[in-house]
Amino acid sequence: MFRYVARSAAGKNLLRRGYATESAPDRKVAVLGAAGGIGQPLALLMKLNPLVSRLALYDIANTPGVAADVSHVNTRSEVTGYVGEDQLGQALEGCDVVIIPAGVPRKPGMTRDDLFNINAGIVKGLCAAIAKYCPNALVNMISNPVNSTVPIAAEVFKKAGTYDEKKLFGVTTLDVVRAKTFYAGKAKVNVADVNVPVVGGHAGITILPLFSQATPKANLPEDDIKALTKRTQDGGTEVVEAKAGKGSATLSMAYAGAIFADACLKGLNGVPNVVECSFVQSTVTELPFFASKVRLGKNGVEEVLGLGPLSDYEKEGLEKLKPELKASIEKGINFANQI
Ligand code: NAD
Ligand code: LMR
Repeated sequence: MFRYVARSAAGKNLLRRGYATESAPDRKVAVLGAAGGIGQPLALLMKLNPLVSRLALYDIANTPGVAADVSHVNTRSEVTGYVGEDQLGQALEGCDVVIIPAGVPRKPGMTRDDLFNINAGIVKGLCAAIAKYCPNALVNMISNPVNSTVPIAAEVFKKAGTYDEKKLFGVTTLDVVRAKTFYAGKAKVNVADVNVPVVGGHAGITILPLFSQATPKANLPEDDIKALTKRTQDGGTEVVEAKAGKGSATLSMAYAGAIFADACLKGLNGVPNVVECSFVQSTVTELPFFASKVRLGKNGVEEVLGLGPLSDYEKEGLEKLKPELKASIEKGINFANQI
């Protein structure tokens, strides 16, 4: 375990002086997979978040260096690096939010489901440790295929007797980030003003942006909406191909993961009306897990919001995505329950 806290000569924590956020409650956040392509920039962004008081950076290798580096940033949180399974328990103890970007990323030509064989086992092991060491933490699942890793996590927690559907989230924020960016470009509106819900799941056609509900309204022609929908659904592949074998989205994902974790922390701290899209246990459709807008609160999910009015194109997209999403969910459940 490697702890890095900047201290003055008098032994006082320099980083805790003079911040208005001193009064924010103590919150411990862990990043599992913290030395990876997403993990490193996400660790930095969480270090910049004034709502975090302790930041635990865990990976199977290389976390001492990442933790030493990030710890020099003069913000509130105390950073500790943990390396190897022996230290996983210490990393997780007392956590309020656990973010999981551990596992292998895609290469060109692969689907997210092609990652299942490796990542399912990684996620299963990490979730068993979460059940043991911080059963009350909010879990932000980034590892792909999210459509399966979230159901795996749910089954692991059920077996351990710790499952709380309000505390398990598949991170689909990157789909929202992309939909906002692409819509703003096409509609020629200020991207900072844009809102677009994205529902369904996090793979190909299971990603369903609801541009009919996008604001500011732009009345884009149907062809533009179809092109925007396709680009949002293929956003991950666009990056995988551009990186040409060197991985998938890391920087934009770290940004998206930091936005979602911040929303979770705000909810925990009692900030009202915090709403983000996320892949959660759901009764919005007949599928047991589904991404939609979620209101976050002191216990995690406060309310899973409905879909709202859909265009005919979106209704069609919704029906088309259900078989694939159902199969991915079942694959995760079956994996977690195999002997
Ligand atoms: P990466 O290979 O750069 O980093 C993964 C890290 O996980 C590595 O540092 C590795 O050592 C670590 N790791 C492996 N097994 C571990 C274990 N048992 N415990 C802890 N750490 C472990 O990959 P990346 O680019 O950071 O992507 C990570 C995952 O995130 C991939 O599965 C990728 O598909 C997924 N992803 C999801 C989204 C999303 O929108 N949800 C977006 C981008 C990437
Ligand atoms: C993404 O959407 O960028 C991630 O799911 C990574 C990938 O494999 O596309």
